[in-house]
Amino acid sequence: MQAEHIEAAVNFGSQLLAYSDEFTIGGAKPTVQLSTAAIGITSALTLGLFGALGLLLTKPGTGKIALSEEEASALEAVSSLYDVTDADKAVTERGTAGEVKRKQAAEKFKLDYQRGKDVREVRDKTLAYAEVEGALLAALLRAAAPQEGEVFFDLGSGMGRALLSAAALHPELGECVGVEFLAGLHKQAQGYASKLSRAVPRAAPVRLVNADFCDPSVDISNAGIVFAYSTRYATASDGITLTELGEKLKELPKGARVITTDRRLRAPDFQLIKQINDPNGDLQLTTGFVWRKAT
Ligand SMILES: C[S@@+](CC[C@H](N)C(=O)[O-])C[C@H]1O[C@@H](n2cnc3c(N)ncnc32)[C@H](O)[C@@H]1O
Repeated sequence: MQAEHIEAAVNFGSQLLAYSDEFTIGGAKPTVQLSTAAIGITSALTLGLFGALGLLLTKPGTGKIALSEEEASALEAVSSLYDVTDADKAVTERGTAGEVKRKQAAEKFKLDYQRGKDVREVRDKTLAYAEVEGALLAALLRAAAPQEGEVFFDLGSGMGRALLSAAALHPELGECVGVEFLAGLHKQAQGYASKLSRAVPRAAPVRLVNADFCDPSVDISNAGIVFAYSTRYATASDGITLTELGEKLKELPKGARVITTDRRLRAPDFQLIKQINDPNGDLQLTTGFVWRKAT
């Protein structure tokens, strides 16, 4: 919403300036009064714009999403598996220092996979690593309304942080399955997953699969909820509609919910249930979408 307001303010400001420049009386250039008024209003808009930007750029993690006590403690328990030391917990513009280290490790795992292969034949951008913000995931999951015994999938599960968070947030889930392409990340995820039951004894069972989620051997036909941190996933030429993932999701049963980030699924196969914009006002301007498979 804030981003929309900023865009509207910028548009309105530039319209005003354009109008004052075009305004003529008897062929004369704009009057001083109009220019002064335009400058005054534009300054006010600019101040408002910076005020809104200030709100947008609040400290990461300060959070505008209200979490229940259970949600907060589930997320905290999972965070403590990933960011162990105080140094790991330090907040940077790219996430915690721990997440920055994990991104560097993920880049190395990607290069290991690409080494010696023809660049035209290997995946690259779609393998970009990041971890979804916990409060955003919690809010999106709430909108997806997990049911007792449902199976949750994270397609592109990385080191498993979103997967373990879902298992901790929703112990009622029957199983949480993470599918990750890069072997190095899959192995790291196994390490974190082995510690989950000690950190969150009630967590739902977790299973990790090292595969390309597009592969027909990856069976998602029993999924109740699918999550994909899809911000860098392949899209159609419109730059926003998911292609590979959209194709895979055709295998889902009717009524399954899908959570995507920054990318959309094609209607009418999927109906949008909920959109959450930049919830935490941090520097990772992620928009989350919750969809329901309609057919
Ligand atoms: C942005 S990360 C998200 C990690 C995790 N979901 C989280 O939020 O913590 C996306 C992950 O998807 C993996 N990925 C991308 N395309 C994939 C595919 N076709 N099959 C399996 N994994 C894939 C990448 O290697 C990367 O680890």
